[in-house]
Amino acid sequence: MTPLEPDKIDTLFINCHLATMTGNAFSIIEKAALAVTGKTISWIGKEKDLSDHLKTKCQKVIDCKNGWILPGFVDCHTHLVWGGSRSNEFEMRLAGASYEEISKKGGGIFSTVQATRKASKDELFILASKRVAALLSQGITTLEIKSGYGLNLETELKLLEVIRQLDKDFPVHIEATFLGAHALPREFANDPDGYIDLVTDTMLPKIKNQGIATAVDVFCEHIAFNLSQTKKVFQTAKDLGLNIKLHAEQLSDSNGAALAAQFSALSCDHLEYLSLDSAKKMADNHVTAVLLPGAFYFLKETQKPPVDILRKLKIPMAVSTDLNPGSSPVHSMTLVLNMACVLFGLTCEEALLGATIHGAKALSLEKSKGSIEKGKDADLVVWDIDTAADLCYLAGLTPIKMVIIEGRILHDNFKNE
Ligand code: NIG
Ligand code: FE
Repeated sequence: MTPLEPDKIDTLFINCHLATMTGNAFSIIEKAALAVTGKTISWIGKEKDLSDHLKTKCQKVIDCKNGWILPGFVDCHTHLVWGGSRSNEFEMRLAGASYEEISKKGGGIFSTVQATRKASKDELFILASKRVAALLSQGITTLEIKSGYGLNLETELKLLEVIRQLDKDFPVHIEATFLGAHALPREFANDPDGYIDLVTDTMLPKIKNQGIATAVDVFCEHIAFNLSQTKKVFQTAKDLGLNIKLHAEQLSDSNGAALAAQFSALSCDHLEYLSLDSAKKMADNHVTAVLLPGAFYFLKETQKPPVDILRKLKIPMAVSTDLNPGSSPVHSMTLVLNMACVLFGLTCEEALLGATIHGAKALSLEKSKGSIEKGKDADLVVWDIDTAADLCYLAGLTPIKMVIIEGRILHDNFKNE
């Protein structure tokens, strides 16, 4: 290994343990040190391999006080730009109404669409900023945000512009996904194919032109769009060179995952009703499974995603908040980690891989994000925990000491000690 030169290091972290996630596996280095140069990780290893000279000569040395450093969390599935509130629907569901019943009566996604269409770009930005800030304070350093509460060209573009502004104004890295095919807007109630034509012929080319989204998602479900409509959106996305994702088999088995696999989608998300055959197609086409225990919990679902099959087929499992107003108003990754273990039966190691390197893979960012490796972006969180499993175990606690994004120190709670 090349010797470390103090003048080439901007920040040296010592007295820490690392959970690196290197090689898509849960790997740890105890009694470690980590060096950051510019935006990237320049060295990791055992602290005993560093000379005392180096520690005294480095510009900035941070004593992590025996804390753990993990890659910043990658939250690869959110819908966090929305207007209005659905707390009334929460109360309706507590009184016995189902998510589908509320949706069929014109509530659900439609009520958020109405409120989002009415809201100005500035209003949506202010609302969404609070949510991004909350996620950042939970150790999330990379984030995906979907549009999908506009369902017309003007409002879908407004949402994607808000997402672009959030990416500019916050240190968090944000990927934008176009989810125009999220629900059928009222204006097209009797003409679903007509709406899909609008998505493929007008919205998608505009979005591609403006370079305002990197991926395209569809809600393939009996309360949303069928297989052939989904296929049409995928074909257009593919022709335009956009990545593909799918809300698949959340409430029933629509064979969406198999279709998405045919299109080499980056990910299929939810997957409670995934069949063995579709899972095999996902494995063959290297599609990541995104598990969303927040929505499962919040909708009081009983059908769990087939984790044993995913494991057996070695399909990477990401976990994410699915932050949205209707099915997962969950603003905490540590809570989601806990749910992934308790509700879906993931091990703590699987859940942590899911919130880091596998989340990055679901966004095609695994070369730069999601693990602690030399040359990767220095997106790191220093945690005040005894073992990495504490992040899954201590439900809802977020004992963050420091957040670093691309080498920049953001939160520094060591200062307050
Ligand atoms: O991921 N499944 C579809 N979309 C969201 C729910 C959106 C909503 O209810 O507003 C989800 O669960
Ligand atoms: Fe979703």
